[in-house]
Amino acid sequence: ETVMTIKNMTFKVRQTLTVVGVVKPDSKEFAVNIGPSDDRIALHLNPRFNARGDTNIIVCNTFEADKWCQEQTEKCFPFSLGKDFKIVIRFTPSEFEVTLPGGSTFRFPNRLGAQEYSFMSFHKGARIQSIEIK
Ligand code: GAL
Repeated sequence: ETVMTIKNMTFKVRQTLTVVGVVKPDSKEFAVNIGPSDDRIALHLNPRFNARGDTNIIVCNTFEADKWCQEQTEKCFPFSLGKDFKIVIRFTPSEFEVTLPGGSTFRFPNRLGAQEYSFMSFHKGARIQSIEIK
């Protein structure tokens, strides 16, 4: 499992974070996490190709006080094994807005409610090529 973490980043409300990467050819799933620290995740964005009993679905959740909260799933799944992707994330104190490859969007509650997040991590089946905050 490859994990890449970024600490001390500054991602503030109304900024746009763009992640570009490539799904590994043998990926079962990958995840992008954003939060205040490694043990508090405001947005866990977890495309599952074939993992944990799920096929081609995006699972989102919040991790807080040592446990996962209520999952939200998205059926739109514009990811393919071996292909590159771009995910764009913005947030307000009340919600995240995620733009997927191809341009479809969804919202996920900002349950931690912060105006700024400083921690990001990437897990498992994707290679991250660039991260830009504007
Ligand atoms: C769990 C999984 C975590 C996370 C969580 C999201 O089953 O182990 O990695 O994806 O679901 O709710």
